[in-house]
Amino acid sequence: MALRAALAQLGAGLAVATLAFFFALPAAAWFLLHSLGATTFAAALRLPWWWLPIQFGFVPALLLVASLEIAPAWFLAAFLLLSLIYWSTWRSRVPLYLSGQPVWQAIEAHLPVSGRVLDLGAGLGGPLLYLARRRPDLQFEGIEAAPLPWLASCMRAWGLANLRLRWGSFWRLPLESYDLVFAYLSPAAMPQLWQKVRAEMRPGSLFISVEFPVPGVAADQIIETGGRQRLYLWRF
Ligand SMILES: C[S@@+](CC[C@H](N)C(=O)[O-])C[C@H]1O[C@@H](n2cnc3c(N)ncnc32)[C@H](O)[C@@H]1O
Repeated sequence: MALRAALAQLGAGLAVATLAFFFALPAAAWFLLHSLGATTFAAALRLPWWWLPIQFGFVPALLLVASLEIAPAWFLAAFLLLSLIYWSTWRSRVPLYLSGQPVWQAIEAHLPVSGRVLDLGAGLGGPLLYLARRRPDLQFEGIEAAPLPWLASCMRAWGLANLRLRWGSFWRLPLESYDLVFAYLSPAAMPQLWQKVRAEMRPGSLFISVEFPVPGVAADQIIETGGRQRLYLWRF
């Protein structure tokens, strides 16, 4: 998708450069033509609708920011900060956004009697902190790929003996030893994640996906949380 978005800008840039070879127009007119061209190319390339205002506003936003004469070091600092927060989102297509208490309470109602619970993509650790405090008799674990959220979750979990937070990718973490695995990811991750949980989770365990169903696989149970999100449950 990002490639098609870049192609739309490139196509508009080439079209405007070609026209500028033959016609003389004020700079503002060329910028407007570029924005209209990029939006048209984006629509032709079948980008989702929300890309269209981004395509239209991209060059005006660049010009605006350039006119502010901000020191380049600030851009580098912002880039580094965002990279540490979003890390491999460009590849995983799972950004950081947080679940809330209605979801945590709904998961709490399905905790096992004993054993180990895992959050795939633990973010800032909100659900795990809540659950680990409520059920000191269970072992909770989270795994998070992005360094800054992982660090924040470790700091928040300081002193909680039944909560462990790892830094790394859940694709490399075997799931056999967990009684409950839950995940709040994105539609893009679900088909491959389903292959993993189906292959690795043991009989008697439970998998919960917050908000995102597995395409083509009916859940054993769907729970309304009272908030925006639903839980999809599969028992193995
Ligand atoms: C939507 S957030 C959910 C955060 C948290 N579980 C919650 O409910 O508030 C998804 C998180 O998964 C992380 N993530 C995405 N792919 C991952 C992977 N392969 N391994 C570990 N974490 C991953 C992202 O960095 C992001 O923080």
